[in-house]
Amino acid sequence: MQIALGSDHAGYSLKSVIVKYLEEQSHSVIDYGVQSEHSADYPDLASKVCKAVISEECQFGILICGTGIGMSIAANKYDGIRAALCSEPYSARCAKEHNNANIITLGSRVTGSGLALEIVKVFLDSNFQAGRHQTRLNKIREIERAQRKID
Ligand code: RB5
Repeated sequence: MQIALGSDHAGYSLKSVIVKYLEEQSHSVIDYGVQSEHSADYPDLASKVCKAVISEECQFGILICGTGIGMSIAANKYDGIRAALCSEPYSARCAKEHNNANIITLGSRVTGSGLALEIVKVFLDSNFQAGRHQTRLNKIREIERAQRKID
């Protein structure tokens, strides 16, 4: 499994902790940056990670900014991206089991690194349950298709 990571300056430090953890767990990681705490615009990094997930170069993405909100808003503009802002493990489990999220977003100013690692672990260990949840995801897909016709 290959995992794409990206953050703005606010998320840089937490991203480094998560990259280290994932590598220790023998996951293959692509770090799309940023690589410092110099000011950066979160949509630029969201864009890189979303493209990696849509192209299937990576199976999942993790995006981090100060609150996780900006990354979540930006990522969910992409067709086929289901990004879930998670601040505790229960939501991370449901994001995979119910929503088949392909990206989680985290807020470095909201969620401490220990909890963030637990969230990442739970998300990766959970499986999509399909069934009625797939029916609902199909309806989201229909919304995306309808939006494309308007554009
Ligand atoms: C940066 O100050 C901050 O606005 C950004 O990291 C994020 O929280 C936006 O949603």
